[in-house]
Amino acid sequence: MGQLSLLDDVLVVVPPDLLVGAFSHEGVCPQDARLSLEARYGWLLEETDRFNRQLVSFQASKTEMLHGWISYREGFSAELVERLLNEFGVAAGDAILDPFAGSCTTLLTAKMLGIDAVGVELLPNSHLAWEAKSRAFAYDLDELTRVRDLLRTVVPPPAEAPFPHLTITESAFPAVTECDLMAYTHWIETLPLSDNTKLLYRLALMSILEKVSYTRKDGQYLRWDSRALKASQRNAERVRRGLEPVRGIDKGRLPTVQESLTEAFDKMVEDVARLQRQPPPPSQQTLVKGNVLTALPTLAADEFAAVITSPPYANRYDYTRTYALELAYLGVGDEIFRLRQTLLSCTVENRSKAEELHEFYASIGQQSRWQDIVRVIQGNAALREINEALALRNRRGDVNNAGVLTMIDQYFTELTFVYAELFRACRRGAHVAFVNDNVRYAGEIIPVDLLSTELAEAVGFEPVRVYVLPQRKGNSSQQMGKFGRVEIRKSITVWRKP
Ligand SMILES: C[S@@+](CC[C@H](N)C(=O)[O-])C[C@H]1O[C@@H](n2cnc3c(N)ncnc32)[C@H](O)[C@@H]1O
Repeated sequence: MGQLSLLDDVLVVVPPDLLVGAFSHEGVCPQDARLSLEARYGWLLEETDRFNRQLVSFQASKTEMLHGWISYREGFSAELVERLLNEFGVAAGDAILDPFAGSCTTLLTAKMLGIDAVGVELLPNSHLAWEAKSRAFAYDLDELTRVRDLLRTVVPPPAEAPFPHLTITESAFPAVTECDLMAYTHWIETLPLSDNTKLLYRLALMSILEKVSYTRKDGQYLRWDSRALKASQRNAERVRRGLEPVRGIDKGRLPTVQESLTEAFDKMVEDVARLQRQPPPPSQQTLVKGNVLTALPTLAADEFAAVITSPPYANRYDYTRTYALELAYLGVGDEIFRLRQTLLSCTVENRSKAEELHEFYASIGQQSRWQDIVRVIQGNAALREINEALALRNRRGDVNNAGVLTMIDQYFTELTFVYAELFRACRRGAHVAFVNDNVRYAGEIIPVDLLSTELAEAVGFEPVRVYVLPQRKGNSSQQMGKFGRVEIRKSITVWRKP
C-alpha cells in the first residue's frame, strides 16, 4: 500500500512504485530530508499516459509540419504544449513564456493558436531555427519554389571560404562534402533573392549538417564514424600507447549535400505551402536571445498566463558539444567557450555563476531580491543533504567525476533563480509546467521533480501536480553495474501562482 494523502478533499493512494523510499544505495548517506520531501509532496505524483514519453520527447515532432524542419532531440512536442495549454485554460489573447526555448516548440505552438509568447534561448542554432520557422506565413512561395527547382540542377562553383571549423569539429565531413557545403552556402548569396528566402535556405543547410557528416548526436557528445580522420588519428595514438583502439560508429553511405539539401528544402516549401493556406489568428511572439538568468529579471511583472518549458536536465549533457557542427557553421568560433559557461550548469565543466549573479542583481538595483532567493537556496534541507551525500560519496571514491558535485549544487541554485523570476513574471492564477528527469549519481537519487517543487513553493508557487510518465528511465550502465538498477522518474511538475 502506498502513501495516503488528501487531494482536493479526496483520500489519495499513491502507488508505492511511484515513490522512491530509499534514496541512498545501501543506506550509505543520510536520506531523511529526501524522505521528508516524499512525505510532503508524494501525494502530487500521478502516473498518466496522457503525457507519454513520445509526447514529451521530440519523436512526435519529427514528421510534423514546421517543427520537423530541424532535428532537435531535446525538444518536446507541440501536442504536449497544446494539451497543457488546454488544461491550464490558456487561450488567444493570453501570453505565455518559455525560458528555455530550444527549438521553440512552445513559441510556435502559441503562434498557431494565436497566443502571445516570449521565449529565452542562449544558442545561435536555435535562434536561426526560430527566425526561419516564425516567418512561415511571410515567405514568398513563388520564390521558394524557384529556388527548390534550381536546386535540382545547379552545380554551384567552389567557394573560397573554408568551413569555419572549431577544433572539435575538424574532419567531421568528407572533403567533397565540406567543399559542397561552402559552395551551396556561397551560391545563394549570389542570387537576387529576398532575405526571407535566404534565411530559410540557410536553415535547410544547417539542418543537414549531421546527416552529411561522420558524426552522430548521441548522449553527451558527438560520436564519430571511424572513417573520420579525427577518429583514425585518435586510434593510432591509442595503439601507440598500447591501448585498444576505440570502435567508432559506421554511418554507412553518407548522402551528398545536394541530396540532403534538396530533401530538406522540399519539405520546407511543402510545409510553407500548406501552412499559408490557413494562417492562424494574429499574435505576437518574441525570442530573447541570451542568458535566462539575466533575461528573466528584466521582464515585466505579473504578465504571463502560463509557463511551459523544459530546462537542460542535470545529466551532464553539453549542448555546445552536441550542436558543435551547427555552431561552427554559424561562425561561432571561440565564443563557444563563453556559451558553454553561460549554459545553465548541467555539465561537469560549468563554473559557478554565483558571483556574476550577485553583481547582476546589484547592477539592476535588486540586491534584496537576490538575498531572498539565496536564502531559499541555503535554507533547503534536501539540497543540503544531497550536496553532503555527494561529498561523502566522493570521499569514498564512488564519484567518477568530482565536477558532478558542483554541477548539482549550481544546477539547483540557478534553477531557484529561474523559479523566483518566473513567479514574479507570472500573473495570479498562472500555471507553470516543467518537464524534467530525476537523476542518480554515485548511488544517490536526486528527486529533481520534488526538490524543484519545494524550491518553487518557497518562492511563492503552490504545488498542483507531478505527472509521472508511465515508462521510467533506467540508469547508465556504469551506475547499474556498481549500484544496481533503479527506475528514475521522468515528470512534468505543475505549479500555480496563487
Ligand atoms: C531541453 S532544451 C529545451 C527544448 C524545448 N522545450 C524544445 O521543445 O525544443 C533546453 C534549452 O535550454 C537552453 N539553455 C540552457 N542554458 C540556458 C541559459 N543559461 N539561457 C538560455 N537558454 C539556455 C539550451 O540551449 C536548450 O536549447
